Amino acid sequence: MAALIGQPIDRIDGPLKVSGRATYAAEHWNVAEPLYGHIVGATIGKGRITAIDTTRAEQATGVRMVMTHRNAPAQGAADPSESAYSRAYPTLSGPDVRHYGEPVALVVASTFEQARAAANLVDVTYANASGRFDFAARLNHAYAPKKVNAGLATESAIGDFDGTFSGAEVTVDATYTTPYQFSHPMEPHACMVVPDGEDLTVYVSSQIVGDARTAIASTLKMDEERILVVSPYVGGGFGSKLGIHAETILAALAARELKHPVKVVMTRQQIFQLLGLRAMTTQRMRLGATRDGRMVALGHDVTMHNNPIAQYAEQTATSARPMYAAPNRLTRHWLVDLDLPRGEDVRAPGEAPGLLAVECAVDELATALNMDPIELRILNEPKAHPETGQPFSDRRLVECMREGARRFGWERRPARPASVRDGRWLVGYGIAAGVRMQFQLPSKATVRMRPDGTALVRSDITDIGTGTYTIVAQVAAETLGIPIERVKVEIGSSDYPRGAGSGGSFGATNTCTAVYNACMALREKLKKGSVPAEGVEAEGAIAAMWKDPNYEKYSIHGYGAHFAEVGVDADTAEVRLRRMLGVFAAGRIFNAKTARSQLIGGMTFGVSSVLHEEALVEPGSGAFLNHDLAGYLLPVHADIPAIDAVLLENFDDKANVLGAKGVGELGNCGANAAVANAVFNAIGVRVRDFPITIEKLLPGLPLLDA
Ligand code: MOS
Repeated sequence: MAALIGQPIDRIDGPLKVSGRATYAAEHWNVAEPLYGHIVGATIGKGRITAIDTTRAEQATGVRMVMTHRNAPAQGAADPSESAYSRAYPTLSGPDVRHYGEPVALVVASTFEQARAAANLVDVTYANASGRFDFAARLNHAYAPKKVNAGLATESAIGDFDGTFSGAEVTVDATYTTPYQFSHPMEPHACMVVPDGEDLTVYVSSQIVGDARTAIASTLKMDEERILVVSPYVGGGFGSKLGIHAETILAALAARELKHPVKVVMTRQQIFQLLGLRAMTTQRMRLGATRDGRMVALGHDVTMHNNPIAQYAEQTATSARPMYAAPNRLTRHWLVDLDLPRGEDVRAPGEAPGLLAVECAVDELATALNMDPIELRILNEPKAHPETGQPFSDRRLVECMREGARRFGWERRPARPASVRDGRWLVGYGIAAGVRMQFQLPSKATVRMRPDGTALVRSDITDIGTGTYTIVAQVAAETLGIPIERVKVEIGSSDYPRGAGSGGSFGATNTCTAVYNACMALREKLKKGSVPAEGVEAEGAIAAMWKDPNYEKYSIHGYGAHFAEVGVDADTAEVRLRRMLGVFAAGRIFNAKTARSQLIGGMTFGVSSVLHEEALVEPGSGAFLNHDLAGYLLPVHADIPAIDAVLLENFDDKANVLGAKGVGELGNCGANAAVANAVFNAIGVRVRDFPITIEKLLPGLPLLDA
């Protein structure tokens, strides 16, 4: 049997998707005549509902129910000691308004249009309180959280940072700010709940169905066994579907009350109000070096916004911890409480905003030293983790940079800003390093060999557009020694063996390792005799990283190097990306095609975050002003030219038995900084307040002869 793992096999679910037969959460048309719920959001940012009159809405055509905090069933409280993804999500649970757009009612009607029309007839009276909406104005109220996300330490302090930084021969002390950003998956957040006696079937767009089930059960005060969560196809999540949101809880509450299926789909505009978002950050980077470029001090201080409804402390300053051999180090996090939606995971939480600051600061240090930024990075490449002393499992960062430089033609980089012109464009090259922590979380899978010679693989993992169906089939077919056509993959149901779902770039490695272990166990069983009529089944599992000695002993990460070439219009300062290359080392790759797609998608997000995306707050109300995809800019095809991603041949035997590490977010780790550094190389203007827009570049645009 030819090797299947790694092959660029087309997605086995592709034909279903392009022919419309893949059923997304709102598309389970086999459920007859569901009712439609529409969420009514608060029109103030902070205060209290003093009166709510639902009479007009209840009398509107087709309306079956209007649920408010006055008639919503009692719900379980959120327990902050529980995972953010599995804890209760009480909704319509009281009169307080804690951010603009927070649900104040759900209108349920026979059609979507009736529900939406009647939603306008709910009369709410508020007592408006003064809200905290201005991040910059409240920086003096910052406090340090006890821990940051993923259980990581808020602070790391090694050696004497202050002393060595203040005495360093060459220093960079720069503050960067990153804006509010949203995940915006193509498929909006959607849920349909079908009651059957005391049981609920929940069709929901979810990244982690097991956690969704726990969260729904805790909120609705139900036995988990009575809830089935089904999510066979997910049109993107990017972190925003790791946990559940209001549409899920409200659909479930309404379906249970009405004893009828209820579907609730968010509008694109509601995504700006009903989800969490990437926290705004301000990040101070301090680097100290000797005149020959050896870093002696590295400091990264991150302050971000937070809504105390649910603390979210993104591990942004941890992205500097495995990087650069500076012996004196200080990385810290602070939060500023605001009355805006809570922080939530958005596309490579931690590294995406964190590396933007770290890798721009390293570029600034290279400029100050008059050194090539690749040579500066290589000179400061650590031999072991610079903070923990752990040996690296398999670090290929230098190889990524050297291979990338060769392929990209780095030697053609303009030696000075504003020195290379191509027509109206001033051309610049930028590089940034990328690193992404490898997570391993408990996951299970079963595989059943059936008498007809086909194998059925089951796990509750989801396919969020990543290619999960395909890579699971590849691993199972190769391990069992059967053609891939004889493997059937069933995923995305809470009835199947529980895992950690799709997120944190851990879905593929967790699930495929569990599937591999199940297949190996099955092979042992099959050696003992023929397949009985009911088939032979075996289970495989993978342990949590905190129970795996390799993850204690070694520093295990994926690596990348990003190269960008931009043009900046010499008269208008318009920035165009001209080409981009990422070279990555992430252990063994399950499928060269789906992995590359993940990586170029991540790089595109990097471009997007540094040149386009920014949600703006209306200072009086805390509402997001540009709350649609016309005003909240995302790159379109014309903004993204030829991007390429190259994966180095690699096998990390410390990561897991398959030698694989995650790629989902790696492409988005450092890509933004490569673009920012290219803009500087093009015109010599260093923008530290992202995104980089024309009005921030124009004042510094060099005046050139025409
Ligand atoms: Mo990811 S932002 O953990 O889905």
